[in-house]
Amino acid sequence: MYMHEDVKEILLTEANIRKRVKELGEIISRDYQNKNLLLVSILKGSIIFLSDLLRAITIPVKFDLMTVSSYKGERTSGGKVHLVMDLKQEVTNQHVLIVEDIYDTGNTLKFVIDHVLSKNPASLKICVLMKKEKKEPEENPIHLDYIGFVIPDKFVVGYGLDYQEKYRNLPYVCVLKDEIYQRKENLKI
Ligand code: PRP
Repeated sequence: MYMHEDVKEILLTEANIRKRVKELGEIISRDYQNKNLLLVSILKGSIIFLSDLLRAITIPVKFDLMTVSSYKGERTSGGKVHLVMDLKQEVTNQHVLIVEDIYDTGNTLKFVIDHVLSKNPASLKICVLMKKEKKEPEENPIHLDYIGFVIPDKFVVGYGLDYQEKYRNLPYVCVLKDEIYQRKENLKI
């Protein structure tokens, strides 16, 4: 398998992801049979997962996108989230499934859940491709209805996820070599 020279370790291969996304698509199609299903994703990290999951779903489905923004450190997650671009589809009386690439601190999802709930959906569930395994229990954990993979608490890129906007196009999920994070041209000014 081709491995980018900046990659230290592949956590999820293309084949792992393909198989699991297909399974999730089948489960979701079964659970939402005869319901108005609206997938809601958050730009940008989720778009690759969303586009694969959409094609693994075999029942009628709509999707919409929103953008949120949060202050984050170099490789850390968290910070106050605010809305940048709202949904355009009608949410009221739709069965909404939020499709997220990764659950880390849960900050992004908490904000998006409250935002979607304020629009009175018929129901709201959450699907994440990856959930990071934390050593400490979370204070207010969000219930995740569909989880693709539980992964170690490492900074991962690929399959939509970036480091300084790069590596989103890698078809697998991986950890980069330590020196990539230390390179001068990669440091934020
Ligand atoms: C990443 C990721 C999730 C979020 C998860 O997005 O795509 O949306 O962080 O972290 P949290 O659980 O700690 O909130 P990011 O803000 O980096 O933006 P991007 O999707 O545009 O890369």
